[in-house]
Amino acid sequence: ALPKILLTRTLPPESQKLIENAQDIELLHWKEDRSIPRDQLLKLIPGVSGFLCLLTEKIDSELLDIAGPNLKVVSTFSVGYDHVDLNEIRKRKIPLGYTPDVLTDATAEMTALLVIAAARRMRESIHTVEDGKWSKWGPLWMLGTQLTNKTVGIVGLGRIGAATAHRLKPFLGSNGKIIYSGNSDKPVAIELGATRVKFDMLIREADVICICCSLNKQTSEMFNYDVFKVMKKNVILVNTARGAIIQQDDLVRALSEGLLGSVGLDVTTPEPLQPDHPLLKFPNVTVVPHLGSATLETRTMMGNLAVENVLSGVRGQPLPRAVEL
Ligand code: GLV
Ligand code: GLV
Repeated sequence: ALPKILLTRTLPPESQKLIENAQDIELLHWKEDRSIPRDQLLKLIPGVSGFLCLLTEKIDSELLDIAGPNLKVVSTFSVGYDHVDLNEIRKRKIPLGYTPDVLTDATAEMTALLVIAAARRMRESIHTVEDGKWSKWGPLWMLGTQLTNKTVGIVGLGRIGAATAHRLKPFLGSNGKIIYSGNSDKPVAIELGATRVKFDMLIREADVICICCSLNKQTSEMFNYDVFKVMKKNVILVNTARGAIIQQDDLVRALSEGLLGSVGLDVTTPEPLQPDHPLLKFPNVTVVPHLGSATLETRTMMGNLAVENVLSGVRGQPLPRAVEL
């Protein structure tokens, strides 16, 4: 029998063709346009050799035990892998494929978009026009924040953080500043003219804060009430990484106390966020539904890479892009 690959969603057309054209595997394909329920997943996974998953699937010891010893590769259609228990993967020596680089530009575009949208009150101004309130126009009406001369703080100057900084830099002018926090000095900081500072300092000094780090034990709920309290009163806070990096109840509290200027979120806890969620009641909060990588070009490149990762693993070859375990 051919080795089986389980695919839990339909990929962009080019990537879907790529996996369907592979002659040396049998494809198990969850075709519904919604996340596969856990019980269905656990029914389909026993005996598979390759698993191509989305970030909505939790890869833990239970799932890996049920999958059994045939499993030779997990390939996630995402750059983030906080849904994967790395210890369990490591213990079993299963390579983990992911999709870095190909989504950097799209996600950085979204981050820059949310910064500018937050700064210029885009959500409120669209509503104002739609609600027939444009007639209130005046010299001091609907004023936003200008990015010229401001300090941008990037939390995590990785691929996406650096690409975001490159995009925002021209808006800052010659007196603007880029600072960043993270565990190590990044060579890219030199061309950006960016300075590494302690997280404690970044949150105090930055006019614009972009969360571009991965979610892990160190970054989980790194943004909590104590942090919001010391930020600048007009701060623009944007998160395109993972919702859980922000303590969201604390964010709601800080917003209700007027501690923050404007917030742009592409990620929340949970996802999806219900339409009656308190976050959506603040006019200075813009939420978009986890669309950082959502362009056809990028999703196709992600799909192709995820397919190449899973096929390589099943064939016993090194993965084009594997997480270092
Ligand atoms: C999206 O959030 C990803 O990790 O690719
Ligand atoms: C994170 O994986 C990044 O690309 O910045």
